[in-house]
Amino acid sequence: MSSSTVITNIAALVTSDPSLGDNSPLGLVRDAAVVIDGDRVAWTGESSKAPATDNRVDAGGRAVLPGFVDSHSHLLFGGDRTEEFNARMSGRPYSAGGIRTTVAATRAASDAELEAGLTRYLEEALRQGTTTFETKSGYGLTTADESRALRVAARHTDEVTFLGAHIVAPELADDPAAYVALVTGEMLDACAPHARWIDVFCEKGAFDGDQARAILTAGRARGLHPRIHANQLSYGPGVQLAVELDAASADHCTHLTDADVDALANSRTVATLLPGAEFSTRARWPDARRLLDAGATVALSTDCNPGSSFTSSVPFCIALAVRDMGMTPDEAVWSATAGGAAALRRDDIGRLTPGAHADLTLLDAPSHVHLAYRPGVPLVRGVWRRGVRVV
Ligand code: NIG
Ligand code: FE
Repeated sequence: MSSSTVITNIAALVTSDPSLGDNSPLGLVRDAAVVIDGDRVAWTGESSKAPATDNRVDAGGRAVLPGFVDSHSHLLFGGDRTEEFNARMSGRPYSAGGIRTTVAATRAASDAELEAGLTRYLEEALRQGTTTFETKSGYGLTTADESRALRVAARHTDEVTFLGAHIVAPELADDPAAYVALVTGEMLDACAPHARWIDVFCEKGAFDGDQARAILTAGRARGLHPRIHANQLSYGPGVQLAVELDAASADHCTHLTDADVDALANSRTVATLLPGAEFSTRARWPDARRLLDAGATVALSTDCNPGSSFTSSVPFCIALAVRDMGMTPDEAVWSATAGGAAALRRDDIGRLTPGAHADLTLLDAPSHVHLAYRPGVPLVRGVWRRGVRVV
């Protein structure tokens, strides 16, 4: 029999479910309690009305919110790119070509080294409140290296993405058509059993719209669902292609035309914004306000990777989104919880609705607004994942 726990004395409970609490998008409940039964949320509401349970935790007047859903990361890699970052901060621009450095280091790494790196970044993320994460291959670019990255990833999450089409493998740089044939053929055959999603970096210097369509369509025929790195470094066809293919998410969305914004707003493709990348490449910010005002669904994630965004911190991304991308703190917190879940087409995470997974973050602050108000401060005091306190 599962045991039940009530967390009481919560000054502000974010449910990220608009049908709960104050009926705002964040579904906020003041002076709240949440009941966990086994690995699920059983009840949320005002503290005074909480049902009896086996165990009791006093939140001490702090805030509780759903664990963050980081729907975009690249955590299977060897080495790092400290020198590239250092040079960039002295004025050198970011380009897709830096990925090659990590491809060489990843191919040279053992399975144990890859997994040790993944575990380290996951523990880092968990301490900052992330309870669900997606992660991708994309630094192997051979059948063997891509499939082993996915096998390692699948030991740690269900949200695994095949990104063989990150860049053209260096040994086929002169023959991109041959690389697309490899990705859609033998590599896809080896990778599809270990992944849920297929992704393409649709960008100058990586894959154009036609190549991206061919790759995603082949993936879909093998049972993988599409998501796309779209419109990160320049305007391009990625967002329109994402909507055309009913991709779960178009990620980055930094350079958008009005038609791109309209297409997202009139689709169920989520716009996933990754401000860590703009921060670490000194690029212009994605305009979250424009997307939200048009009616698009926005997710916020870290893009954690050694090249463009070496942060595992969702709170940091929330602070950037509020300070520089026109989001309110409420919108940013929703996007990092329920928004991330929408980008993974999940409704059992990212919200504290009865029946959802009991993934919760307790802040050392009276309000979720402090995630943006106190940037850089380690505010996460407790984390429950699947009903078990892990931090
Ligand atoms: O999401 N845009 C493509 N891929 C990564 C960066 C990869 C790298 O620079 O290593 C991104 O930003
Ligand atoms: Fe990325």
